[in-house]
Amino acid sequence: MLSGVKPTGDLHIGNYFGAVRQFVEMANSGEHQVFIMIADYHALNFVQDRQEMRSLIRELAVSYIASGLDPKKVVLFKQSDVPAHTELAWVFDTITTVPYLERAHAYKDAEAKGKEISVGTFNYPMLMAADILLYDTHIVPVGQDQKQHIEYARDTAEKFNRIFGETFRLPKEYITPEVATVPGIDGQKMSKSYGNTIRMFASPEEIKERVMAIVTDSSGERPENVYAMHRLLKSEEELAPLYEAHKGMYKALKDALADDLIAYFAPMRARYEKLKGDERKVDAILKDGAKKANKAAEKKMEEVRRAIGVR
Ligand code: ADP
Ligand code: TRP
Repeated sequence: MLSGVKPTGDLHIGNYFGAVRQFVEMANSGEHQVFIMIADYHALNFVQDRQEMRSLIRELAVSYIASGLDPKKVVLFKQSDVPAHTELAWVFDTITTVPYLERAHAYKDAEAKGKEISVGTFNYPMLMAADILLYDTHIVPVGQDQKQHIEYARDTAEKFNRIFGETFRLPKEYITPEVATVPGIDGQKMSKSYGNTIRMFASPEEIKERVMAIVTDSSGERPENVYAMHRLLKSEEELAPLYEAHKGMYKALKDALADDLIAYFAPMRARYEKLKGDERKVDAILKDGAKKANKAAEKKMEEVRRAIGVR
């Protein structure tokens, strides 16, 4: 199994329930060999400041570990530490057409907004295909918004295999339906770019404040945006008595949600605070991960070089 997140800012509970929690569960199940990546070269499309990049990389590494990923059980590494990723992305660029990449949602959205689009943003799916295919990945746990990228990886593997002979395993996305799209405090998809997040490692005060800011409409008995978030933590059965007893009492329900969120994330926040200052430890973990990831990736890359005839 392989997945990754870009180091572009603090993790929010949408990232956790939509993606990171699945990483942790799969890693702890012992049924998979797990590679978890910090997609720093993908992030370079957005973060172009040395100091910010460095601190965001460490921040994400700490967040992964605090979320429950055990560096002894998973290969935790930085994309930029494994040169085969960018090398393979180039190979994929040469067998991929421009119209095919023009159909990517992320590209189309950026274009529709009239943004100036970098070549890196345009080629984003090819680097992501390389990330996945280098490790003979079976499954890629992600949120719904990444589904198309996994399809691109699969198509690219098929195309390469057709042209150069069987080399890559075809990966599949793994999307947990109930949390495919976690709503933000305004009811839209929770996303950094919409400013509607609740940060995973926020202080209890900040969590309270964000929960109080959840948009509710007064039409029903149940504040749906509050309930949707509550369902991430508790089952329908567990929530039924609470919501029954507090019909129309939005403030009380928000208080209950805030308390539950604070309690749920408290152990992770404690681990986060403890590890945050320990840069040496974090760097050593990433160094060890780089070694293991390079070993696996280089092996596949050598197969690719032979398949295309440069070796
Ligand atoms: P953001 O939209 O905040 O920039 P990212 O694009 O960095 O988040 O997403 C990192 C991972 O978290 C991806 O696997 C993505 O699918 C997942 N994810 C992000 N937001 C959500 C959400 N609201 N619901 C479910 N999964 C999400
Ligand atoms: N594109 C993913 C995101 O925006 C991050 C990512 C990069 C990724 N490479 C990956 C996810 C490989 C899964 C597998 O969230």
